Amino acid sequence: MSTKGTYYITTPIYYPSSNLHIGHTYCTVMADAMARFKRLSGYDVRFLTGTDEHGQKIQTLAEAKGVSPQAYVDEVVDGIKKLWATMEISYDDFIRTTEPRHVERVQKIFMKMYENGDIYKGEYEGLYCTPCESFWTESQLVNGCCPDCGRPVTPAKEEAYFFKLSKYADKLLELFETNPEFLQPESRRNEMVSFIKQGLDDLCISRSTFDWGIPVPIDEKHVIYVWLDALTNYITALGYPDEPELYEKYWPANVHLVGKEIVRFHSIIWPAMLMSAGLPLPKKVLGHGWLLLGGEKVSKSKAAKGADVVDPVVLIDRYGVDALKYFLLREYTFGQDGVFTNEVMLKRMNYDLANDLGNLVSRTVSMIEKYNGGVVPAGDGVKPDAIDEELRAIAVGAAAKVEEQMDKFAFNMALEEIWVLVRRANKYIDEKAPWVLAKDPEKKPELDAVLKNLAEAIRIISILIYPFMHTTSKEIRKQMGLWYSDVVWEDAFEFEMMCGEQVKKGDAIFPRLDIEKELEELAEIGKKAAGAASGEPESIPLELKPEIEYDDFAKIDFRVGLIEKAEKHPKADKLLVFQVKMGTERRQVISGVAEDFSPEEMVGKKVIVVANLKPRQLRGMESKGMLLFADNGKRCEIVTTIAPDGEVVS
Ligand code: MSP
Repeated sequence: MSTKGTYYITTPIYYPSSNLHIGHTYCTVMADAMARFKRLSGYDVRFLTGTDEHGQKIQTLAEAKGVSPQAYVDEVVDGIKKLWATMEISYDDFIRTTEPRHVERVQKIFMKMYENGDIYKGEYEGLYCTPCESFWTESQLVNGCCPDCGRPVTPAKEEAYFFKLSKYADKLLELFETNPEFLQPESRRNEMVSFIKQGLDDLCISRSTFDWGIPVPIDEKHVIYVWLDALTNYITALGYPDEPELYEKYWPANVHLVGKEIVRFHSIIWPAMLMSAGLPLPKKVLGHGWLLLGGEKVSKSKAAKGADVVDPVVLIDRYGVDALKYFLLREYTFGQDGVFTNEVMLKRMNYDLANDLGNLVSRTVSMIEKYNGGVVPAGDGVKPDAIDEELRAIAVGAAAKVEEQMDKFAFNMALEEIWVLVRRANKYIDEKAPWVLAKDPEKKPELDAVLKNLAEAIRIISILIYPFMHTTSKEIRKQMGLWYSDVVWEDAFEFEMMCGEQVKKGDAIFPRLDIEKELEELAEIGKKAAGAASGEPESIPLELKPEIEYDDFAKIDFRVGLIEKAEKHPKADKLLVFQVKMGTERRQVISGVAEDFSPEEMVGKKVIVVANLKPRQLRGMESKGMLLFADNGKRCEIVTTIAPDGEVVS
């Protein structure tokens, strides 16, 4: 039962252009952890995710595949839903922008803005980035390319409907000034304020050059341009405007969780649209950083070049859902970019999960089995000493610290607070050395107290980790003889709750990984994925002669030559004799390529000649210089130059 009110959290709706990678997973895992945390701590939570299915890019991809855009997105969305099911993402609703419920409601919202005088027809001229579906101005480009994805943009001009974004500049500035909580982290807020101060252009909200979109209700030649279509999902999914029950209950959203490159859309354009429609604004927009691969945002194409595995399905298969979730939440600092490598991931999993948490649970369960017949003792026969008190204080104090960190979306720090307790409990075992106490029957009350304190600490840990790793939480509770489906947050503040539970050792909750071996195997998988993505077999280094110095290379004088005549060497089957013209000089050059070329096909070719090679006699004929051929692995290919008509000769 919720006692603390409602809590509405959203992720961006993902483009179903291809399968999702670990970067997308990152955002959804954070939202899921927050949703679970809020539910557990007494809120009535609504968690929304979904897919953003319209636009030119999807249409182009579908055409290339020879299927309809709907069939294309259906297949990808199916995979996305399966991924979320595997990861046990606890969303309450999944909205697809192609669903009728969304389409109809977007049109109604469009009409509302239109009737309020905020939409007009004009002509759009700009630089368009097709993959991002964004128009840019010259000054927004970075090195002449799209500032979001770095790809080239093309000039585009078309009749379009516009939203009077400029009209809302002052109100938006006021929003940022009077409500510092609205957008975080702070650095993003400053960026947005200066963006508005530079002057806001009206926003193009329709396109007529493709038709995979929601029709503009007043003009069937146009479809609604993706951002109006996409952003409104947050309220159409709640039934706005025609079935407003959920909308009235959950809107305004408590938080829109988004990646940093779409903060602008969520904190400027979306509030302005809501202002235009006369609706309340979301309480908070939170911009998270990117997962990077070698300095660049993780993406399918970047991943394909390296050996790091970014396909969440592969990683879950090998290490399990909880290990992956833990890693994503523990490793990265919210709001900042973070580097992803297989090694960073494996170390986190091994040190924190297998060593710290896994050991604590398995050692404790084994000791309770060995020293007390598998039953958690009452442990109240001795007065607690300073070490006991310290463990207890850390254990009962952890939940409040986790709450404090979660309020700041500092998932990594929340987990760190839990691990302070995990590590303290492990140290407690070493300090108390139960195996020594067990040797002396008189020390049984002391031993019981140690076992009981450890059991309490683990019980508390099982509650604290629940929002982040609920399967592991349940497994631990099962081993500890706890009622595992009944996790109550408030119980994490209590220490005296266990007595008489029957513990039962199970499998290691996180098996220890052989990092070297895993790295090798992941590298293999990564390389294969790279090969599959590029359509080429994996890259195997060439076997070459020893490296040469630049100075050696610089001694060579390359010239362009024209083969005027070619014939077989009269005394050697493998040699061809060429008459080559370089400038006005004519000379004879002999090459061992008679098996690869006929003399006739060589005449008229422009070739590269090593012109300063010392002359040599070859079977009685002089060769002055050398023509360049290269080994393609099977035979020789001649290195040619540009033909007079400007085309490459071969
Ligand atoms: N469809 C729009 C969002 C519309 S929301 C009304 C979109 N889709 S997306 O699929 O391209 O990206 C969705 C989210 O995934 C973004 O928040 C983006 O930041 C996030 N990520 C994509 N790659 C990422 C990383 N490498 N790292 C972290 N998050 C990243 O934008």
